[in-house]
Amino acid sequence: MDLQLSGRVAVVTGASRGIGLAVVRTLAEEGALVVAASRTAAAQWPDKVVHVAADLMDPEAPARVVERAVAEFGGVDILVNNAGGPPPGVEFPRVGFMTCGDADWQEMFEFNLFSVVRMMRAAVPVMVARGGGSIVNVSTVQAKQPSAMNVDYGAAKAAVRNMTKAVSQEYGAQGIRANTVTPGPTLSDVWTRKGGAADVLGASYGTSKEDVIARVVPEAQGLITGRMVDVQEIADAVALLGSPRSGSTTGADFAIDAGFLKEM
Ligand SMILES: NC(=O)c1ccc[n+]([C@@H]2O[C@H](COP(=O)([O-])OP(=O)(O)OC[C@H]3O[C@@H](n4cnc5c(N)ncnc54)[C@H](OP(=O)(O)O)[C@@H]3O)[C@@H](O)[C@H]2O)c1
Repeated sequence: MDLQLSGRVAVVTGASRGIGLAVVRTLAEEGALVVAASRTAAAQWPDKVVHVAADLMDPEAPARVVERAVAEFGGVDILVNNAGGPPPGVEFPRVGFMTCGDADWQEMFEFNLFSVVRMMRAAVPVMVARGGGSIVNVSTVQAKQPSAMNVDYGAAKAAVRNMTKAVSQEYGAQGIRANTVTPGPTLSDVWTRKGGAADVLGASYGTSKEDVIARVVPEAQGLITGRMVDVQEIADAVALLGSPRSGSTTGADFAIDAGFLKEM
């Protein structure tokens, strides 16, 4: 299937690792002109990718990212708000409502909601001026299945989902589509890095990081496929939603969750 992305301008946040890196590669392979926003650069980006060094905890950063896309390529057709997860310095999982104080909630919402609000506020007028565009916001199953694990994170991503739907309604007539992708547990740096989620769970289950990834997470989180999600599986869905081939899909949510969510 030709995704008809050749020459389209895509902005991807959280682009240096994990899901974001897979999205950058996939969109670039499909011929898109990609502006990649993250604090650090990735050695593995395709040649033509333009990196904007941006710390999305800085309220001024989103506008600079969009301005750079306009300066380099004349506009924005696709915005992928992928940056999110534990704010800098935090490791998941954090268990229990009482573990997080105001400062924790504020930085969680700053990273996972307000940076997305600001990216969209900067990009939407540019998209409207161009006749439309596609926004893909990366959520999480914890937005739809709350639990004692990462309470503040689930709440922030639920707000992202709500806002995405609202924007899809308000701007649909101006050619903007807005959708969310909802990953289940996905094998990225969040899990694999030293001190990351697999190490945290390994300590509480009394087992190795490798066993957490191969067995504990699939069993404990009810993954019907029996394995964690691959970053490429998220990137493929993002690319489809960014493409005009999904032109009638807006306000929707694509769960790529290995069967984590059980509701109809
Ligand atoms: N992995 C999962 O199991 C899972 C499940 C559900 C949802 N998700 C969602 O999927 C998205 C991507 O997650 P991931 O697992 O791929 O994460 P990851 O591997 O930790 O990558 C995070 C990306 O965000 C960037 N980033 C971190 N802090 C930043 C900041 N302050 N400003 C700008 N960029 C920043 C990082 O680059 P720099 O360090 O270079 O800035 C990196 O490129 C997130 O929204 C997450 O909530 C993940």
